[in-house]
Amino acid sequence: MIDIHTHILHNCDDGSNSLELSIRQITNMIDKGITDIVLTPHYMNSYVQTDAKIIDQQFKELIKTAADLEVNLHKGGEIFLNPGIEDKIDKELCIGDTSYILVETNMGEFTPDIYEILFNLVRKGLRPILAHPERYNYIMNDPDMAEDFLHRDVYLQVNAGSLLGLYGSKIAKTAWFLIDNGFAHFVASDNHCRSDEYILPFAIEAIRDNIDDHTADLLTKINPQKMLNNEKIKYFYLEKQKVEKKGFFEKILRKL
Ligand SMILES: [Fe+2]
Repeated sequence: MIDIHTHILHNCDDGSNSLELSIRQITNMIDKGITDIVLTPHYMNSYVQTDAKIIDQQFKELIKTAADLEVNLHKGGEIFLNPGIEDKIDKELCIGDTSYILVETNMGEFTPDIYEILFNLVRKGLRPILAHPERYNYIMNDPDMAEDFLHRDVYLQVNAGSLLGLYGSKIAKTAWFLIDNGFAHFVASDNHCRSDEYILPFAIEAIRDNIDDHTADLLTKINPQKMLNNEKIKYFYLEKQKVEKKGFFEKILRKL
């Protein structure tokens, strides 16, 4: 199991506030079967001003302290899509040694020119992964918009907490719609270290129960491993008619 979206890197953002807490969280994740963790502190959103140098410095300290732990740690970031960001960022904020880069945008309204920014990132040879699309208002209101990102060479990462209903039923319904229609490429924790309960295994269990084992493995093992190897992942992988099964999401939400 690989977690590609976490805020475990200490003293960078609104995630872990100490090296000790980071180590405790990592140890807990290893116990639950995690082999690889991608550290993705917020970069340049409205309240976090971490720069690449700080991320690099904290990463080196964490790697040294966690040297004896049975886990691979990979450096990354969660890049806020401000206009002009594509000119300021480079491979140093990609995940590990790959071309994949985790990005986020406003929850309320689209970042102005979001498609242009994403296009410019793709033109630079980067592979953007949009974090938690199910949490953005415009996708919640029109989940079919998610498919448009795939046509634009953007991958989608759903949050474990969304599938478990932790952000409310509308986000949960959108998250399950993305998984059921094959629009999601990754499921990750977005762990902000606010609890000792590590939720990714619960989301995987829910996918096994409600979809199938292959989808659970694809989103938390197979695709993440391909990403870490810098292999290209298929944007469209599900050959089926898009249908909203009557009562499907409600049934899942009742079970959670
Ligand atoms: Fe995040």
